[in-house]
Amino acid sequence: MSSRPDIDIANASSPQAEWSPSSWKAFDARQQPAYENDAELGRVLEHLAVVPPVVTAWEINRLQQQLAEASVGKRFLLQGGDCAERFDECHPDIIANRLKVLLQMSLVLIYGLRLPVTRVGRFAGQYAKPRSANMEGPEGRKLPSYRGDLVNAPEFTAEARRPDPARMVTAYERSTMTLNYVRALGEGGFADLHHPEYWNLDFVTSDHLRAEYQAIVDAIRDAIRFTEAVSPLPIRDAERVSFFTSHEALVLPYEEAFTRETSKGTFNLSTHFPWIGKRTNTVDSAHIEYVRGLRNPIGLKVGGDLEARELKRILDLVDPEFQAGRVTLITRFGANEIDEGLPRLIDVVTNSGHPVLWTCDPMHGNTEVTEDGLKTRRFENILSELEQAFDIHRAFGTILGGVHLELTGENVTECTGGARGLEEKDLHEAYTSNVDPRLNAEQALEMAFSIVRKCRTMD
Ligand code: PEP
Ligand code: CO
Repeated sequence: MSSRPDIDIANASSPQAEWSPSSWKAFDARQQPAYENDAELGRVLEHLAVVPPVVTAWEINRLQQQLAEASVGKRFLLQGGDCAERFDECHPDIIANRLKVLLQMSLVLIYGLRLPVTRVGRFAGQYAKPRSANMEGPEGRKLPSYRGDLVNAPEFTAEARRPDPARMVTAYERSTMTLNYVRALGEGGFADLHHPEYWNLDFVTSDHLRAEYQAIVDAIRDAIRFTEAVSPLPIRDAERVSFFTSHEALVLPYEEAFTRETSKGTFNLSTHFPWIGKRTNTVDSAHIEYVRGLRNPIGLKVGGDLEARELKRILDLVDPEFQAGRVTLITRFGANEIDEGLPRLIDVVTNSGHPVLWTCDPMHGNTEVTEDGLKTRRFENILSELEQAFDIHRAFGTILGGVHLELTGENVTECTGGARGLEEKDLHEAYTSNVDPRLNAEQALEMAFSIVRKCRTMD
């Protein structure tokens, strides 16, 4: 592990130490799989280093421009999807349902906030998970922890838990299949704003939510018809909706293989928007070293024990040019801790001068375990953290420009509360997550309405 004697991180304009796609190797690389066979790993990485990338630098730059707009309140970022994608859930219905709920939520937000919305999925590459312990299971029978499908499989056998480099190739292939279908759906028909009625609401059981959504659909359709009636041109992009991808940049050999030199600089082309998770977001980490040399916009999960002073040093490293849209801070404290934690961070970030986009992840600080051992989250706690985030930013003169949610288009029962009043005893009905509990489609749509309601009361 290296400290940074050669970097004056107190002075952001000082020259940085030499960066390369592999310079992270000299730093503390946490949460990495212990691959057993270096030759096998090497062959996989050589292959991945030359395959076509998942995304392009043009798209990434367009996203950064949009994030810059969100940071000054001219746009809203909706980032959402599974905690972890599964290889066997690379399935057309699952992908389409997830898009559908993100589209519906964004429609509610566009209409309610009167702002354009940027949709970023936690998909097409969200296959790796940080874990609190390297080994898990009963005493005497412990096995390596499940680290996401990119690394190993969740079944509790020695074979399944062996980190297998070939899984990185499958992750790449599933990412491209997913994004191919997302792009095809986004190109027309499915995502046509002239026909939001196609995005049906099979999953909504609440009459009230259904009526509220229908009113918005009718209003948007009328507005588009009116505008197109008085102007000879169809509304630009109304028949097309774009999605960007994001994932946690966790397994660094994989990320390095997709780090490509382009005419616009060095990009990670496995995703538009890599983020660094809470467990690896420290000033001396290999993960921060890795992302500081990329031209992608970078998300940083912040909360809990991260000291405000350390955050300033991280920002100086990752954003030496003080560039709008470069860093998105994704805060995740928990409903009971945000009122203490967020003001401290806002204070130091504002004084640092870095023009960050503030977003709120109200999921990861609100996880509980039921008596039956199921991980869950309460809708009311998720909403409470989000509402407090709006209030705190308002009080400090900063802008909450987005939200980061774990959600699915499926009718799962993983979080309690919401319009259907799911209770702890109902969780077993359809609990499918291997990792964190997600909002189901109905709860996610309700969250979008709740955000609008909150913003309206602040006007
Ligand atoms: C996640 O987003 O799934 C996650 C693990 O978050 P965090 O790093 O904030 O704990
Ligand atoms: Co999660």
